Amino acid sequence: MSYPYQIKSLEQYHADYKRSVDDPAAFWSAIAEHFTWKKKWETTLNWNFTEPRVEWFKGAKLNITENCLDRHLEKSGDMPAMIWEPNDPDEHHRILTYRRLYEKVCQFSHVLKNNGVKKGDRVCIYMGMIPELAVAVLACARVGAIHSVVFGGFSAQSIADRLYDAQAEFIVTCDGAYRGQKDIPLKSVIDDALIGNRIVKRVIVATRTRTPVSMIKGRDVWWEEEINKVETMGLHDFPAEEMDADDPLFILYTSGSTGKPKGVVHTCAGYMLFTNYTFVNVFQYEPGDIFFCTADIGWITGHSYIIYGPLSAGATSLMFEGVPTYPDASRFWKIIDKFKVNILYTAPTAIRSLMGFGLGPVHGHDLSSLKVLGTVGEPINEEAWHWYDEHIGKKRCPIVDTWWQTETGGILISNIAGITPSKPSYATLPMPGVQPILVDESGKEIEGNSVSGNLCIKAPWPSTIKTTYGDHERCRTNYFATYPNLYFTGDGALRDENGFYRITGRVDDVLNVSGHRIGTAEVENAINMHASVVESAVVGYPHDIKGQGIYAFVIYQGSHAQNTHGTADLIRKDIHQTVTRIIGAIAKPDKIQFVSGLPKTRSGKIMRRILRKIAEGETENLGDTSTLLDPGVVEEIKNGKL
Ligand code: PRX
Repeated sequence: MSYPYQIKSLEQYHADYKRSVDDPAAFWSAIAEHFTWKKKWETTLNWNFTEPRVEWFKGAKLNITENCLDRHLEKSGDMPAMIWEPNDPDEHHRILTYRRLYEKVCQFSHVLKNNGVKKGDRVCIYMGMIPELAVAVLACARVGAIHSVVFGGFSAQSIADRLYDAQAEFIVTCDGAYRGQKDIPLKSVIDDALIGNRIVKRVIVATRTRTPVSMIKGRDVWWEEEINKVETMGLHDFPAEEMDADDPLFILYTSGSTGKPKGVVHTCAGYMLFTNYTFVNVFQYEPGDIFFCTADIGWITGHSYIIYGPLSAGATSLMFEGVPTYPDASRFWKIIDKFKVNILYTAPTAIRSLMGFGLGPVHGHDLSSLKVLGTVGEPINEEAWHWYDEHIGKKRCPIVDTWWQTETGGILISNIAGITPSKPSYATLPMPGVQPILVDESGKEIEGNSVSGNLCIKAPWPSTIKTTYGDHERCRTNYFATYPNLYFTGDGALRDENGFYRITGRVDDVLNVSGHRIGTAEVENAINMHASVVESAVVGYPHDIKGQGIYAFVIYQGSHAQNTHGTADLIRKDIHQTVTRIIGAIAKPDKIQFVSGLPKTRSGKIMRRILRKIAEGETENLGDTSTLLDPGVVEEIKNGKL
């Protein structure tokens, strides 16, 4: 399979970009001709950012799994679709050819159907990084059910909230998951999440860790037993459900500035096109290349660049169950050597953490198969960029710094490997079809170069967020109402003298901790659940490895930590425990400072700007504090800084 829409020169990039902006409908419909449709579209694009309503390929019918699987069978049935590397390097890896993956997806589609799953039903998937996770995702897409994958690090409470929000009736999970040293009892977390839940009808449990699990009669079934039933009936195919272009494909929950995660919805046709197009172009994927994206499928990066982008392109996608530092910090390099990986796509936080181990773990591994390196999820600092370039890419491999979001479905701003220029810490230029602009606080466009502002997008791209599940108004107010007729990203950016974009970070109350997106309000809500906490305020601060760390200012009952319930450290542990229970360990504050009051305006609003500066170590220029209800509190907080 070759990709007629792959950009092969800088001139072509500029020409394609111009065509994509001059006539988006013509541009994308020409690309869409290279996909498999059950029925072609009537109109390519209808849109209006006010409602918002963005409709791509209206009238078309398709199933994304026919594009990810069926269409490759004839020519590439024996090609590896997925290579799976287990957590434990002594366990055997697995290779699923396109034919084998197709069969497994079809079989599990039968299992879903036998268990009552129908088109439009919501299926929550809470699994470790095993091939069955990819199979479950694709089987949902094949039967037309809407998958909602929840990252394995989220707590029972978070799952319960997501199940309720999506009104999910089905769950696919595992007995447990291996992650480095840990063995996470996923099914038992699900059992906790289901206490009091009257909506979930069926839980399908795959075996991985053999951790003892309690299977509830009438509700819980084993993956393997269900598959056996299908196998004995000799079922190897499953007719793909006919989906409308804009039928929901999945929900993925992500944090915003409110306390409640939003269910971002992506639909079938546009998402398929754009993940495929960006995969093929940004990474300059060539048939036969081994593509290794280190993300978890619980995040958008895993959805778009482990599953849908690569598979729709007939690529070989490497999926890794473990973590970069287990059994030691050479694991990524060993995997690259073992499978002769050509393209590595990872997060700056992983690079920074591996940098910390020095060059020892890198030495002795053959990395010469690498052609392209990528980063995603957070700004990459120049030091990490150069380390990646010198020691991993050996200065031979272009690094693509890909900026995008859960809401954008695929990469919006990035250099194109070896085709458009790169610049350390810059995402650089927009992909064809993407029209970024910078605006000031009032929404006025900031034109010209060498400027900075809030990053917005002024026209739809094929995988524009469709809605937030069950609450379209929330989608409008969050993304389309801040600035009229623009999609607001929540990020700040600067544009250099060449028109290259550098993303400077969130301008709202969203943190990016190790590439994980966490709302400060969510963490505050969780901390405030602790019986003895009166109030809290959470801000981010620069962290060498995580990018951002979580700094919590907490008013504890009795005003100070030295109270009857124990020492400050014990109370901190209690708060950690509470946050772990309510959200998950990923949201545990790195620093907890006990304070007697918070800087508030007379109207009661917390002045986070001041707290942010203190957390960042700034003690002098805190700005105007005269409007504070009690300016004295600032001194106390400054003096107690951790
Ligand atoms: O702040 C930006 C940051 O991650 C946010 C999106 O997070 P999420 O929806 O979890 O998706 C992450 C993976 C696509 C953005 O608003 N971000 C993402 N990529 C970059 C980035 N910041 C700087 N440079 C990037 N390449």
